[in-house]
Amino acid sequence: MDLIENSDYFLDKDVVKKYDSNVISTIPFYSECIEFIAKVVENFQGGKKIDLLELGIGTGNLTCALLDCIEKLGNLYCLDMSESMLSLAKEKILKSGLAADRVTLIKKLFLDDWEMDVKSKPSIISSMMCFSHLINDSDAKKVFDKCYQILDSGGLFIISEKCASSNGMSRCSYERMIANRAILLERGGFMSSKQIEAWKYHVLVEDKIRSLKEWAALLKNVGFVITKSSGIKLPNTNFNERDFVLLKTIEDVSSSTEQALGMGMIFCIKT
Ligand SMILES: C[S@@+](CC[C@H](N)C(=O)[O-])C[C@H]1O[C@@H](n2cnc3c(N)ncnc32)[C@H](O)[C@@H]1O
Repeated sequence: MDLIENSDYFLDKDVVKKYDSNVISTIPFYSECIEFIAKVVENFQGGKKIDLLELGIGTGNLTCALLDCIEKLGNLYCLDMSESMLSLAKEKILKSGLAADRVTLIKKLFLDDWEMDVKSKPSIISSMMCFSHLINDSDAKKVFDKCYQILDSGGLFIISEKCASSNGMSRCSYERMIANRAILLERGGFMSSKQIEAWKYHVLVEDKIRSLKEWAALLKNVGFVITKSSGIKLPNTNFNERDFVLLKTIEDVSSSTEQALGMGMIFCIKT
């Protein structure tokens, strides 16, 4: 079952309004990961016209970076369940002047029938920090399968998610990252202590955190071929918020790693 039925976190206007300053200030590697993904896309395209679909677009930070590096943009499809997120994203995309009349906003859930809204086959499907909200593997697989079906042959699928296995060192590192982000959220005045508790519940209980290995298995299962995997490794030892804010190095990692990653990125193609 899709998570939205038990969470309205991203529908809260206050969460949306503060989203950008929150993630940019409390996820030290957020902008670096976006730039990294944009570089991969820049090298992928080979001069052909690109239709782009982004799932869980949020406020459109990744989208704007991708638009900036895509030479020939065709249609841009932006899907999210949150109207407030979509309207902020649209504002930014239009302001960038890069896609003006070719943007389609799709206010739907990942598991809804959104294929009919995507009128041309995208050659790139991008996503960032949104599939952990799918708690059941069978749902994640259904969504990946929809992406596989709609993607153009030879097209690129990108996922980037917080990663850890469900127990052991890897889960401890993930929980320390959340504890450190909570300190930064409070210190930056992004949330009240009550909101921080709600956010912690959202990321520790409602989200399903998978290892990169588990994401890779789900992607391979629907037919994708992984071409690159990268990540920000979280320390195995205890680390405080001062160590956390210094984490910015993106490394190539094995797609079968169980190591905790602040962000794990998988690039795969439909052959
Ligand atoms: C953590 S935000 C990430 C936003 C953006 N991709 C970024 O990296 O900044 C997750 C986004 O996924 C959307 N989302 C979560 N679950 C969803 C679902 N089941 N269907 C559609 N959108 C969903 C939320 O509304 C939110 O905008």
